[in-house]
Formats: sequence, C-alpha cells, structure tokens
Amino acid sequence: NLDAGPRGCPQSPRRSAPLAMAARSLLLIRGGCVVNDDSSQEADVLVEDGVVQAVGRHVLPPGDAPAGLRVLDAAGKLVLPGGIDTHTHMQFPFMGSRSVDDFHLGTKAALAGGTTMIMDFAIPHKGHSLIEAFDTWRSWADPQVCCDYSLHVAVTWWSDQVKEEMKILTQDKGVNSFKMFMAYKDVYMVRDVELYEAFSRCKEIGAIAQVHAENGDLVAEGAKKMLALGITGPEGHELSRPEAVEAEATLRAVTIASAVNCPLYVVHVMSKSAAKVVADARRDGKVVYGEPIAAGLGTDGTHHWDREWLHAAHHVMGPPLRPDPSTPDFLMNLLANDDLTTTGSDNCTFNSCQKALGKDDFTKIPNGVNGVEDRMSIIWEKGVHSGKMDENRFVAVTSTNAAKIFNLYPRKGRIAVGSDADIVIWDPKATRTISAKTHHQAVNFNIFEGMVCHGVPVVTISRGKVVYEAGVFSVSAGDGKFIPRKPFAEYIYKRIKQQDQVKSEKRMLLFPSQLNAVNPWRSK
Ligand code: URP
Ligand code: ZN
Ligand code: ZN
Ligand code: ZN
Repeated sequence: NLDAGPRGCPQSPRRSAPLAMAARSLLLIRGGCVVNDDSSQEADVLVEDGVVQAVGRHVLPPGDAPAGLRVLDAAGKLVLPGGIDTHTHMQFPFMGSRSVDDFHLGTKAALAGGTTMIMDFAIPHKGHSLIEAFDTWRSWADPQVCCDYSLHVAVTWWSDQVKEEMKILTQDKGVNSFKMFMAYKDVYMVRDVELYEAFSRCKEIGAIAQVHAENGDLVAEGAKKMLALGITGPEGHELSRPEAVEAEATLRAVTIASAVNCPLYVVHVMSKSAAKVVADARRDGKVVYGEPIAAGLGTDGTHHWDREWLHAAHHVMGPPLRPDPSTPDFLMNLLANDDLTTTGSDNCTFNSCQKALGKDDFTKIPNGVNGVEDRMSIIWEKGVHSGKMDENRFVAVTSTNAAKIFNLYPRKGRIAVGSDADIVIWDPKATRTISAKTHHQAVNFNIFEGMVCHGVPVVTISRGKVVYEAGVFSVSAGDGKFIPRKPFAEYIYKRIKQQDQVKSEKRMLLFPSQLNAVNPWRSK
C-alpha cells in the first residue's frame, strides 16, 4: 500500500488508470505532506474529476502538463482528508425557533473551516413518519448544501410503523444511524423499553444506535426545582442537569445496548463522568463510541455565570457545558488516547433575539451553540498544538473514524487512490483569531470569540473542486451531494458478529438442548 509508507520516503506513484487525453478536471497538489490516520508522507496528490488518481512522487511524467491542469503549491503545508462533522442541526425547527445557520451558510462555513462533509439529523415529531422527516430534511438540504452531507434519523416514538420505516431507511435511503433522545421529555424523549426496541431493530438492520444521554425526568424535575428557588438565569440550565444526569443516562444506554449487543454511539459527550462511562465500556470490550464536540473541547460552562445575560445564554446547550474548567482538557486527553473516537460540533445556532425567548426562564432559551466552522482549528489548537495528539490522530478524530463508523470509508476520510478528493491544505503554523465579526456563519455570536488557534485551512477542496481559497469561496448552493451509507459497516459489525458467534457457541456448550437456537448471523 503506497500511501502507507514512512514519512519522507520517496515512493513511486500509483494511479488507478492512465489519464485520458481529453481535457478533464485535473488538479495537482504539489509538495505537501499528505496525512492519513495511519501515516504521513511527502507526496503530490493528483485529482481527476473529483477523485484521487495518484498519491506519491512525480505523479505526472516530467514535462507532462495536460491541458486544464491546475497546480496548487502545498510546500510546507499538510494535505489532510477534509473534516467530517458528525453532528449538525442546520435550520432546525427547535424550541419555538429555527436555528439560523441553514444548509447553505452552514455548509459554506464548514468549508471555510476545513470540513467537507456534515452529518445532520432528520427529527420527526412523536407520532410522525421517519421517512417523511427524512424527505423533508432532504428537500431543505439538497438545493442548499455547499459540501457533501448525510442524514442520521431520530427515533422519537415507537410503533410497528417506526420499526418498518427504519428498515426502509436503511435499505433504500442510505441511512445507517438512528438517534434516540433520552431527554426532551414529552417532545423527543423515549423510555427504556423503547430504547430496547430501537436498539434491537438497529442491530437487525445493521445500523448504529446513537443516544442523546441525559435523564429526561431528572432534567424536568431539576428545572422545576431551580425555577421554584427563583433561579431563572442561564446558570439554572447547568444547575438543573448536572454531570450525574448525563452519566446515569450514558450508563443506562450502554447497559441496554449491551443487553442486545447493539453498537452504540454516544453523541455530544459533555462531562468527565459521562466520558468515563464510555471509556469503561470500551475497556470492557463493548462496541461503544463517544463523540465530544468542539464546544466541549474548546470552552466550558463557567460562561453560564457571565454577568451579561446574552453572553451566558449563548452558551446554553444540552447536555450543558460543564462549569468544571478541567473538563475540556480531560475530554481532549480521552480523545487523544481513543477512549473517545470522533468529533462533531452539534452546530445548532440561535441569534441573540432567539436566545432572548428565555429572558425570564432558562428552560425557554433555545439550546445550541456554534462549532461547524471552528471545530478543526479548535481540535488542532487544543489537541495537536498542545502536544496531546499528532497529526495522524487529528485526522482520525476529525475525519477517518467517522468515515469508518458510518461506513463512508475509504471513499471519505482518506487520501488514497479512488477516494473522493475532499482535501484540505492545512497550515499548521499559521494562526487565526476566532470572531463572530469574521466567521462565515449566520449566527451573531461565537462561543470561541477571541481564541487564537494554530492550524488554518488555507485551501478546501470538495470532490476535486477548489471551493475555498485564501478567504474566497467558489461554490454554489446545491454543489454538495447527499451521500448514502450502507448498513453493516465492517468497522463496527465485525466485532458484533464475532461476539454473537462466541456467545451462541458458549450457550450450546452450556445448554445443549438449545442446539437449534438460531445464530442471527448464519443467514447473513
Ligand atoms: O443543545 C443542543 N444540543 N441542541 C441540539 C439538539 C441536540 O440535543 O442535539
Ligand atoms: Zn442531542
Ligand atoms: Zn464568558
Ligand atoms: Zn445535536
């Protein structure tokens, strides 16, 4: 495997087919250091019609400059797989508002930050069709997106119809991940028995179960208590749903997933105690993944106590940012050592006038923060620049691991022959200062305001097209594509199958009368 060579090792180029003579869309990224999750190498990257054609030295014969070839100089820079943001909510109708970053501006901002694919959530109301929700989100996204995207679908209630629709979504619509809310009581929350049903179904159809892990009953009771005490400000948000509320739900989700041996993905891990639950489960051999987000890695919940109400309100999200200021560092350490696996942003932004809906009652502040544009820089600064992870781990947690878990790999998440040319030229030495005044998002506030980050995306390439370069966009609404995902991702399901196999063999030894018990994988 050519692109797995040691860093700096000159290697002969590999390409999938001879270049066609006719002028096509050709791009050469010259002289950079190509970084994948498992190796780095000084190499050129040749892209034809949106796909990587060659990675190595001298990918074009000397003197060969085909018509239409565009050359980008990446000397002194890193050449990375574009980021995959596993968690966004563009133009999400939520808590009486609608998030202001829509699929157009939100995905443009993603590109400016080095992210070339987002994964958003189609979320039906209780009693409503999952497929209808999926179609609705596609109708919003397809004409608007500037980068590629996929959709997770939420299971907010349970019935035979939901069960059937999960199968249709998986088999025909390119969905292999379903999110269950353990919070937002009476709105999206499902109970344990519904979690059990949904996890069982996920396993049957080869999907991964995702959870928003907070105890929704305790959240509701905690809020009542705070309001009764006269605590109505944003600080009440965290006080009413402390770490234990998140950790308890995380352990409950792990326990229920384990009962049916379904792969589990905990979205927005926000606290040290919840992260420890995920780490313990992984060390117990469970197929569990944890996703910290840019907000939780880059800032903390002390801002809920800011004297300026709006500043505090702009930090309100669920589960809350934690006031323990050692939390971001702790989460980053776990991310660096593989206790946590992927990163999203949970970008769900509301302007100040929308946040003001909760002026007299924190439970009415629309929940959500920014992150889609800044996720990559935050993780570089706090993860790589700080010395916690190397550039390969950076690629793993910002792109490759997501591609593997959600079955997009190696089309996405890798720079190799045949992969989509979703590429970022990254300057690890340059710095930029994050500000709402200069960001490309629609929202009028940035939770990372004033933060100076090393690691700047200089050029972003989406399926072979230079879409962002030195602050200038060359992209139109609808240029992004919906990327369907197949079920039974090997990265997660190989272990699940093997674990079931071993279990059924053990059972046969212990209970020979059950010899005819079906091994669920035999027919698959
Ligand atoms: O506060 C948040 N996280 N808003 C988006 C909805 C969710 O729970 O992910
Ligand atoms: Zn959530
Ligand atoms: Zn503050
Ligand atoms: Zn979310």
